[in-house]
Amino acid sequence: PTIYVITPTYARLVQKAELTRLSQTFLHVPQLHWVVVEDSDKPTALVRDFLSASGVAYTQLHTLTPKERKLQDGDPSWLKPRGAEQRNEGLRWLRETASATKGQQGAAMETSVVYFADDDNTYSLMLFEEMRSTQRVSVWPVGLVGGMRFERPVVDKGKVVRFHTGWRPNRPFPLDMAGFAVSLRLVLTNPDARFDGDAQMGFLESSFLQGLVTMEELEPKADMCTKVLVWHTRTEKPKMKREDALQKQGLGSDPKVEV
Ligand code: UGA
Ligand code: MN
Repeated sequence: PTIYVITPTYARLVQKAELTRLSQTFLHVPQLHWVVVEDSDKPTALVRDFLSASGVAYTQLHTLTPKERKLQDGDPSWLKPRGAEQRNEGLRWLRETASATKGQQGAAMETSVVYFADDDNTYSLMLFEEMRSTQRVSVWPVGLVGGMRFERPVVDKGKVVRFHTGWRPNRPFPLDMAGFAVSLRLVLTNPDARFDGDAQMGFLESSFLQGLVTMEELEPKADMCTKVLVWHTRTEKPKMKREDALQKQGLGSDPKVEV
């Protein structure tokens, strides 16, 4: 089965570095299709050129987060959900593509898996083999998230019975975006399932999963959720102090060089 990886991404100094790291992981994964969704009003040249040279099978999409839903400079990062509209655009494309794909190829799509991979996390190759057998929704631990060493579903006799998390464990699905995958079949049979861009902090994942599955139905992977195969790493924003100073003297780095 193919794994469709949906990645929201937005223009910033580290974007190409993030996409490079991600693509060079994905190049090692068989049968992976990368759905890159830019937070922009049109496709950008940087992402277009990057993807076409990457060697990964991909689709480039875009949708701009409405201004009132976007974080403003100085807002704390938890104030509004990020990437919600972009993941929904990825889902829209998948549903449209699946309905236009007939015959054997269409049947193959039915067994496919959908994973939401943010552009800044770190993914083990083993994670993709774990998620490939997803029937409905599979789950596993995520490292370095929620102010913890890791968060994870707790498994008893092969079933998820609760969640190990430091914060609001009574959320419907107290899971990070990186901690689950869904079958494409489930996405197609639930045409209204989507991320709520107005969701409260910590409820974005639940807004999508609620209605798709129950806790009892979750499929624990990564040795019954005992192994960390994905890390919620976050990239430091580079400081441009010297660059700004040099620019004032007309000596800034050549803007024609893409970073
Ligand atoms: C955490 C979760 O890991 C995210 O999956 C979740 O979307 C986010 O919280 C949230 O609460 O919305 P965090 O590291 O804080 O993640 O978020 P980012 O990595 O900054 O953003 C998540 C994704 O959205 C990234 O792929 C990023 O490139 C994208 N994004 C971010 C945009 O497309 N537009 C933006 O303006 C900001
Ligand atoms: Mn992140």
